[in-house]
Amino acid sequence: MESLPRDVLLGRHERARLAWAVAHDAGVFLRDERPDDLDVFSKSTPTDVVTAMDRASEDLIVGRIVSAYPDDGILGEEGSTRSGTSGATWIIDPLDGTVNYLFGIPTWGVSVGVHVDGVGEVGVIATPEFDESFVGIRGHGAWRVRGETAERITGRTSNGLGQALVATGFGYSPERRLSQVAVLDGLIAHVRDIRRTGCATIDFTWLALGRLDAYYERGIHPWDYAAGLVIVEEAGARTWTTTTPGSGTTVVCAMPSLFEGLLERLLALGVHQGP
Ligand code: IPD
Ligand code: CA
Repeated sequence: MESLPRDVLLGRHERARLAWAVAHDAGVFLRDERPDDLDVFSKSTPTDVVTAMDRASEDLIVGRIVSAYPDDGILGEEGSTRSGTSGATWIIDPLDGTVNYLFGIPTWGVSVGVHVDGVGEVGVIATPEFDESFVGIRGHGAWRVRGETAERITGRTSNGLGQALVATGFGYSPERRLSQVAVLDGLIAHVRDIRRTGCATIDFTWLALGRLDAYYERGIHPWDYAAGLVIVEEAGARTWTTTTPGSGTTVVCAMPSLFEGLLERLLALGVHQGP
């Protein structure tokens, strides 16, 4: 397996070092400073929650980006929006998998993507409960970072849809969930099995690591997928994204041997349409 010093990898894109550092440091903050009693606020529905820790994590990340790159744009899930003039935009989920975090389930992460002139160039996902992070740099591969070392990662060699382990996720509104379950109902008999980690960014990293063959979801947001798409594409997966007015954004990612078959079946089931 190809490996190199973490700092050498992070030298391959101007903004990669800071992207990794803020994702890593926010992740360690969330893990080590998690209060026993979390302050929980509702967002779109009573089950769509945000904690004081999501907001503190976003403040930490955004503060450091603004001081290093004051001319860059920012889009953060918890409301940090800033238009820039440099052409670079940072897209941030300061805590993805908030419900897992709330329940003490370790599958949560911090996601930091950098777009330059609208193209995803850098993606970093930190998963602090597993002491690792993931870096994708356009044209330079996908990497798992542990300590000072980066190891190159590629997805698995898949054997077609019938053998595929597929992850998906559900939105927060009951209507959306029911329409997503109807799609799942049309898929589940045609694949090996389904996984629901409760964290889109974990789904991306597990696809890049070869722990999944595919991941799809409708209704996710740029902060859920900006970093993840760079990582899975650099790990060898194919991806498809579409935004349908009223239905939100759908992402389908899979290893090449099953991509076409999965996408065709999902489109026939109307994966990208619904409340
Ligand atoms: C959610 C998680 C979940 C996915 C939802 C996301 P959040 O993000 O990634 O797995 O199914 O669509 O909204 O709310 O925990 O940041
Ligand atoms: Ca979040």
